[in-house]
Amino acid sequence: MCFTAGAIPMLSERVKRVQESGTMKMKELAGQKKAEGKKIISFTVGEPDFDTPKHIVEAAKKALDEGHTRYLDAPGLPALREAVAKEEKASNGIPCEASNVLITPTKQAIFETVLATVNEGDEVIIPDPSWVTYEPCVQMAGGKAVPVRTREEEQWRVVPEVVAELITPKTKMVLLNSPSNPCGAVETHDDIRGLADLAKDHNLLVLSDEVYEKIVFDGLKHHSIGAEPGMMDRTITISGFSKTYAMTGWRLGWLVAPKPIFKGINKVQQHSITHACSFAQYGALAALTGPQEPVRAMVKEFQERRDLIMKLMKEIPSFKCDTPKGAFYVFPRYEGKMNSEEMALYLMDKAEVGLTGGASFGPAGEQHLRISYATNKKNIQEGMDRIRKTLA
Ligand SMILES: Cc1ncc(COP(=O)(O)O)c(C=O)c1O
Repeated sequence: MCFTAGAIPMLSERVKRVQESGTMKMKELAGQKKAEGKKIISFTVGEPDFDTPKHIVEAAKKALDEGHTRYLDAPGLPALREAVAKEEKASNGIPCEASNVLITPTKQAIFETVLATVNEGDEVIIPDPSWVTYEPCVQMAGGKAVPVRTREEEQWRVVPEVVAELITPKTKMVLLNSPSNPCGAVETHDDIRGLADLAKDHNLLVLSDEVYEKIVFDGLKHHSIGAEPGMMDRTITISGFSKTYAMTGWRLGWLVAPKPIFKGINKVQQHSITHACSFAQYGALAALTGPQEPVRAMVKEFQERRDLIMKLMKEIPSFKCDTPKGAFYVFPRYEGKMNSEEMALYLMDKAEVGLTGGASFGPAGEQHLRISYATNKKNIQEGMDRIRKTLA
């Protein structure tokens, strides 16, 4: 048999379009420095430092002991889908049934939704700055991410009037994330109503990533766009267990979608991960149906940490930051000539503090830094002291 000589075929154009994750890069660098013996304080990852509440762990262990280790149907454990539908209705007012709910890791829910709905050349409006994974998802699906600039002066909210200017005949979807990563921004109910009107007027889909929905402070209320009149038919609401219940390694979340879209997303699920881990779903069921006290305790602790980091930030003259209202990030602007990646590397080197340059989240994040305060108060105090002394 004769083979044609030549270069070995390599990566797809689809994957070549995508940048590596800026947050993972800084996390890995912090890990390397720690391995070299440096006493790095890491504010890089968005991962609660709490243990998963015990009753959730016990429920998953019990499921293993009882032999729940086999294939499930693709959308997930019926009792868990039911519990999610109940929770979305009761807490967020989304008019859904269990048959609208698909259980899958949160990140996978976003990827599957985009793959199932976005055609080659479709435009998807995404906030700038926003979480590092949205643009790659859109790019891998062949779509075009269109950034909507958000501004510090407007508390980094996605303002309907600004979105309206970006809508073209190619716009398919608007992607929202409230409370937001990296800014901790929380959309107002007025904004949500305005964005819902835009989606209806221009026949758009909305992907609403609400993974931080329970982490809101100062008595503020989280609003789901899927609950607005007529929006259930065009909204895919995504949330998960990672942040609310300190279950990042369990890889579990969910989406709520109108029936025709649900069917398409389910095909992607069937042909990719089949379903989410079976026994982990029993733990997740205990998370939703069991006591919510651990969630309240964690949110209270996050609010105290936010208050502490805001107090310490005020002692750093070159940092400016409004108080974020949700999630567990602060996103200060800094003064100085270094770009945000250089600044992050400088602080890693000189202060031995790991954080992420704001431009990793989009051009509007330049001259900012993302600090995750999902770490204990001692680390927050020490890390912010080191930054202050380094920049003095
Ligand atoms: C805004 C946002 N959405 C989704 C996710 C993904 O969550 P999970 O780890 O549950 O897949 C993250 C994780 O950091 C996030 O910040």
